[in-house]
Amino acid sequence: MSDSKHGEAKKLFIKTYGCQMNVYDSERMVEAMVADGYVTTERAEDADMVLINTCHIREKASEKLYSDLGRLRPLKAAKPDLKIGVAGCVAQAEGGEIMRRMPLVDLVVGPQSYHRLPEMARSGLKSIDTEFPTEDKFSLLPKRKAARGPSAFLTVQEGCDKFCAFCVVPYTRGAEVSRPVTRIITEARDLVERGVRDITLLGQNVNAYHAQATGLAGLIRALAKIDGLERIRYTTSHPNDMEDDLIAAHGDEPKLMPYLHLPVQSGSDRILKAMNRKHTAQQFLRVIERIRAARPDILLSSDFIVGFPGESDADFEQTMDLVRSVGFGMAYSFKYSSRPGTPAAEKPEIDAALADARLQALQGLLSAQQREVQHAMVGREVRVLYDKAGRMPGQMVGKSDHLHAVHVTDPDGKPGDLVRVRILASSANSLAGARISGI
Ligand code: SAH
Ligand code: SF4
Ligand code: F3S
Repeated sequence: MSDSKHGEAKKLFIKTYGCQMNVYDSERMVEAMVADGYVTTERAEDADMVLINTCHIREKASEKLYSDLGRLRPLKAAKPDLKIGVAGCVAQAEGGEIMRRMPLVDLVVGPQSYHRLPEMARSGLKSIDTEFPTEDKFSLLPKRKAARGPSAFLTVQEGCDKFCAFCVVPYTRGAEVSRPVTRIITEARDLVERGVRDITLLGQNVNAYHAQATGLAGLIRALAKIDGLERIRYTTSHPNDMEDDLIAAHGDEPKLMPYLHLPVQSGSDRILKAMNRKHTAQQFLRVIERIRAARPDILLSSDFIVGFPGESDADFEQTMDLVRSVGFGMAYSFKYSSRPGTPAAEKPEIDAALADARLQALQGLLSAQQREVQHAMVGREVRVLYDKAGRMPGQMVGKSDHLHAVHVTDPDGKPGDLVRVRILASSANSLAGARISGI
């Protein structure tokens, strides 16, 4: 398959920004390019092709593309054959403009057109493809083969129909589309054959998954039947799509892990309404209550935006109150970033220093909660799936059922082992423990 007949295989350097769906997409693009004769390299300087998989979610994320391209300019000048490609959500949102403003870019490919990447790379012409075709691009990409680590992402749903007032995703990823159950099961089986034991199902609105008369709960139950697959997770979900059967699955499907990322964004009903979230703080709290009734030890995570246009001190305090009343095991918080083309971008922004101060206060509270939840694990016995060897000799690193990173003293451990561990200590972002026995 490689073009070694004509000399060395071409080298691909890929850089990935953004969410897990971009990580998954990058893996699939690498596989497509490898099937077309490329090998990967860790150094842009050695590459015949540089591919930047971009994120458009906040202004800072988008800007990274332009600074990366600036840094690539001397490389391209020294090596005119170097192909530079831009993929992902900035490609989708600003593809035409990138091509016009950045002559060093050879190709622009939107998230729905990755199956065309090898062909675009082969053609000597500048090309752009940001269509939203109806076929399942993943089924057109080559099948995955090589052995791999014990945890994997698997995209089951793409796109978003929710149109939160601040968010570009419905524009960059298009309408909600679910992949067929049968294809997902085949892909999961292939992953398990390649050594995977822990799969995270991905979607911009993963719990809106619906295909072949099956919702996400049905998909999870079908996947749980695969021998050798030990853990199932999913992300990111929307509070309004937490259906009864999905909540029930948290209580009775042992392979579904006790961790849930459920973004709420704000604790103020006024702001939630302005954000077009279509739920109140109370409705969110009620969903949490029902999930905890089904799975009392579930670790909850969320996303928050501070400084949304019009957010007052009182609104922000309601966000702090919501955080206090839930108690999150971890969470992400962001300062509002005005995005071109979104309804919120029409509204006047609040004072940046005020937004910074709120972000700091919220992050202080969230990290205190994270520390508390982690600390409560000390002394407990947890299951850890080893990802890789740790930095210290005789140490392994892996994830607990609750998705805590755990460093384990275990000279005999190897990646893929699922073991019982006694937690002995908690530090900023991880736990440490000792192995009890194999399972
Ligand atoms: N589909 C998911 C995640 C979307 S993007 C969801 O429904 O929540 C991930 C997070 O980025 C969002 O949850 C939100 O907290 C944040 N985000 C999205 N747009 C943003 C913006 N314009 N400014 C700041 N944060 C934003
Ligand atoms: Fe964006 Fe809202 Fe859709 Fe999430 S649900 S991707 S925040 S529009
Ligand atoms: Fe970013 Fe696109 Fe994901 S905007 S967060 S890479 S869906």
